[in-house]
Amino acid sequence: MGERRWDNVVVMDHPLIQHKLSILRDVGTGAKEFRELVKELAMLMAYEATRSFQLSETVVTTPIAETTTYVLAGKKVAVIPILRAGLGMVDGILELLPAAKVGHIGLYRDPETLQPVEYYCKLPEDIGERDILIVDPMLATGGSAAAAVQFLRQRGANAVNLLCIIAAPEGIEAVLSACEDVTIYTCAVDSHLNDHGYIVPGLGDAGDRLFGTK
Ligand code: PRP
Ligand code: URA
Repeated sequence: MGERRWDNVVVMDHPLIQHKLSILRDVGTGAKEFRELVKELAMLMAYEATRSFQLSETVVTTPIAETTTYVLAGKKVAVIPILRAGLGMVDGILELLPAAKVGHIGLYRDPETLQPVEYYCKLPEDIGERDILIVDPMLATGGSAAAAVQFLRQRGANAVNLLCIIAAPEGIEAVLSACEDVTIYTCAVDSHLNDHGYIVPGLGDAGDRLFGTK
């Protein structure tokens, strides 16, 4: 577990999350189980990331009596996966938030420079009216996530949350220093990056493990 603490970073230490994360990290976990775990972790992360959503009162008639109770106050959400590994987190979140819209940002890391390269961007038209959940399992150098937040801001986005299953301290620092008003939700803050920009201990290449490409 990460020991450093930043404002705007929520490290989710729930036992279910930590148990699933351990299996996810294991080199012996195959693609099918890896995909299921990423989906489940994303759902659990969304549960926490929506904690501050506003409620409004409503009246419901139960089989016993009429009562005043609460519903979400018309919150509009956009889930924005960073392609391609972020795709693995979308379905779990949509199971909790079926009315959310989904936008896609295509970025890959140049293996030499580690700089993000954009190749696709398609967002909901009303992005400025939505609470945004950017999803990507890995926050390594932070280049991809910072670029995604900046694209969204240029297109009018306001409240931005970043959900990444594993974060490196370097990535957290990079996002928080490049982007204002971003809240980062993560299941673990790992030790450091290796010479190839991979998170240590991490879980390896999230896209390859999700889609079986290596
Ligand atoms: C991975 C990961 C993040 C990015 C993190 O994607 O899913 O998007 O690297 O690294 P960073 O914080 O240093 O930018 P990758 O570029 O490997 O593309 P892929 O998902 O298409 O495999
Ligand atoms: N991207 C990954 O998929 N894994 C890492 O450890 C770093 C970047």
